[in-house]
Amino acid sequence: MSDNQAFLEHINEGYKTKGDFLTMGAAMYNGETVTDAHVKIPLKTLNRHGLIAGATGTGKTKTLQVLAENLSEQGIPVLLMDIKGDLSGIAAASPGHPKIDERHEKIGIPFEAKDFPVEILSLSDQDGVRLRATVSEFGPVLLSRILDVTTTQAGIISIIFKYCDDNKLPLLDLKDLKKVLQFSTQEGKKELEKDYGRISTASTGSILRKIVELEQQGADLFFGEKSFEVQDLCRIDENGRGIINIIRLTDIQDKPKLFSTFMLSLLAEIYGTFPEQGDSGRPELVIFLDEAHLIFKEASNALMGQIESIVKLIRSKGVGLYFVTQNPTDVPDGVLSQLGLKVQHALRAFTAKDRKAIKLTAENYPISEYYDTKEILTSLGIGEALVSALDEKGRPTPLAATMLRAPMSRMDILNDGELKALLKKSKLIPKYNEEIDRESAYELLNEKIEKAEAKEAKAAAKKEREKLNRSSSSSRSRGRRTSATEKAVIKVLTSATFIRGALGVLNKLLK
Ligand SMILES: Nc1ncnc2c1ncn2[C@@H]1O[C@H](COP(=O)(O)OP(=O)(O)OP(=O)(O)O)[C@@H](O)[C@H]1O
Ligand SMILES: [Mg+2]
Repeated sequence: MSDNQAFLEHINEGYKTKGDFLTMGAAMYNGETVTDAHVKIPLKTLNRHGLIAGATGTGKTKTLQVLAENLSEQGIPVLLMDIKGDLSGIAAASPGHPKIDERHEKIGIPFEAKDFPVEILSLSDQDGVRLRATVSEFGPVLLSRILDVTTTQAGIISIIFKYCDDNKLPLLDLKDLKKVLQFSTQEGKKELEKDYGRISTASTGSILRKIVELEQQGADLFFGEKSFEVQDLCRIDENGRGIINIIRLTDIQDKPKLFSTFMLSLLAEIYGTFPEQGDSGRPELVIFLDEAHLIFKEASNALMGQIESIVKLIRSKGVGLYFVTQNPTDVPDGVLSQLGLKVQHALRAFTAKDRKAIKLTAENYPISEYYDTKEILTSLGIGEALVSALDEKGRPTPLAATMLRAPMSRMDILNDGELKALLKKSKLIPKYNEEIDRESAYELLNEKIEKAEAKEAKAAAKKEREKLNRSSSSSRSRGRRTSATEKAVIKVLTSATFIRGALGVLNKLLK
């Protein structure tokens, strides 16, 4: 038996599947693609998460595109985090290329050009379905983690949520949250202290500063109504293909805090909403995070812990998470150790540090009698990658240097006209893009404060009148002066819009 024949059998045996699967490409041996040595990933294992890594320009994003298309075709919805804005082309068919045909001939799968059903979403006011969540949905625990506050401050945030809950004050956006925080140490100080204990101004001050920092990253656009129902990510089109949801995040690259906030809230919401999955043999939703280092950059330890545990938990809901990044070390160990599929594109050995990283990466792959892993990591071509997956029984498959198939859709982006046409077709835009600012904590507290102030002002005016009556028997000149004061007081008090100002005037007068 020739070496190639033995290798073909080794791959076919190792990647054998009974259930549904998707094909990534064909394995290579001695620098040649072995036709029909197909590297197949069982759909059943896709909730075991994965990593797509490699140096810049080696084909990570195209691998993501290939996986997304193949999932869609199998009726599995997909969510893509499009940080660079280079994924919209999935909605258009590939124009084809002789090089693509050549690639597919080597692999042994005929090339077909196809477009895929795409929904564009956005976190900001860019085009697409607006993604939003309310502060109350976010909850005090997650919010505290994201704001990276101290335990005492986290306690205050919990009190604020509890107070709003007890008093039916909806916490929708950051404006509401800031208002209640201010209220808790000013007008509402006594009321809150009575029921929930003392709240220090220094602590609320620190929390407020952290909220402002988050707002500066554009979070005010994200918090509010109408909140996105994550079930809308799991739609199937009329032809039974999974919808590919693309969140355009081009304007978020320099806002890592907002990005991780959003990611975590989305995952938490999915975890909280999706039913526990039985053994359906296929994922409910697969999420790809391109440029994933951005989530972990600037994430506090608390946030990192939260991400690690949600990655672990979300599997049981049939959700697979795929991190796409240049270096595997961009992903924290606690997450890395949970990943079932690894697609490693070429690494470049420019510096001593690079060489060390390559050695480390190689050591993390199963040993193969067919490859020198370290050597192959630097010699892989564009659109080729070292693949290690899990078989249906959850065992690691043999290591395979793989010639990856080309995307069936366009590798370039949509033009403006095409994008507009796509947005026009959207069924979700009419559902989510209307701005709502219903009565919430901000308005309700303002009302409450105004009522309290009016009551106080009335009492103060009464007191002032009594004082004036008592002193009416005093000298003429003094009498004239007090009567002028009285007029001023009454004038201010009768004008409802000046109630806030009235207190100031009264304070001065009564001194
Ligand atoms: N599977 C593939 N089939 C055909 N061509 C490919 C494939 N993968 C990559 N290419 C070619 O390589 C180019 C770069 O790929 P890609 O954009 O995926 O790189 P990347 O690793 O995501 O780079 P970056 O780190 O800069 O984002 C593509 O534009 C395409 O021409
Ligand atoms: Mg890329």
